[in-house]
Amino acid sequence: PEDLLLNYNGILYPSVACSKEIFEALETFEAREDDLLIASSPKCGTNWVIQILSEMVSILKNQETVLDHPTLEFGNQQTVERMKKRLSPRIISTHLRIQKIPKSFFQKNTKILLVIRNPKDTATSYFNFHNNLPGLPTYESWDLFFKDFMRGNVCYGSYFEYVSEWNKYVDDEKVMAVTFEAMKTDSLTQLKKISEFFRLPLTEEQLREVERRTSFTSMKEKSKNTHGKIGEALFRKGQVGDWQSLFTEEQSKEMDAKFHQHLAGTKLGDLLNY
Ligand code: PPS
Repeated sequence: PEDLLLNYNGILYPSVACSKEIFEALETFEAREDDLLIASSPKCGTNWVIQILSEMVSILKNQETVLDHPTLEFGNQQTVERMKKRLSPRIISTHLRIQKIPKSFFQKNTKILLVIRNPKDTATSYFNFHNNLPGLPTYESWDLFFKDFMRGNVCYGSYFEYVSEWNKYVDDEKVMAVTFEAMKTDSLTQLKKISEFFRLPLTEEQLREVERRTSFTSMKEKSKNTHGKIGEALFRKGQVGDWQSLFTEEQSKEMDAKFHQHLAGTKLGDLLNY
């Protein structure tokens, strides 16, 4: 149904979380140089990385883990006001397309961690999320969702375009990209890179503690506390390769071709093995 989706300047958003009001308020949003900004398309591992940064910061500050971190575009005028009052360093996530991210993040040279994921698992996760979360439109079949995902007719638009756009920015020293897959197979190395990028000086021992606290099992167990009712839909499987449960051979080829065409020979294409 139309009213579950908000079309703002040609891109769809979930009405349950976003509003015209917040987009207007964000036009004058003031970033800080020490914000930790996480940029990701939906279902790429946003909440995992938020938790990682949250654990890192709290270990360094020797305080209990903070559970709530704002998503830039969720809420209203008041949410933006509350973001202004938060102590540094603020951990902020956003699914916004790069052109819609408030300019001040770039003017202030804020560090941005880009999280990307293999498009097939991303689509698989997104499809399941639509059918498990009231507030997002449900899909009668995987085939219908696949079509919408391929056309970019989903919230936040085309994932192919999303990754392509970021290729222009990944060489900037203020931007670092991580993949969901690398975090799964080689999490300690990725945690180390993330901590160095944000200059969060953690020991090997502390990084291992962060790894323990942010494993899928551990996050799923805590999810009622950390994410409330949506926790169950959010921490679904946390695996690489679940796309094989949904994709036909033909759909797999179609998606590979599209990604290859958009990304072959680029840095992010390499990271995603295209
Ligand atoms: S959202 O709604 O866009 O913010 O979703 P996002 O957090 O980006 O992505 C959700 C998927 O990430 C998986 N996840 C994890 N995988 C492995 N380890 C940890 N710790 C972890 N935390 C979240 C989550 O299970 C979703 O993927 P799927 O494939 O649906 O399980």
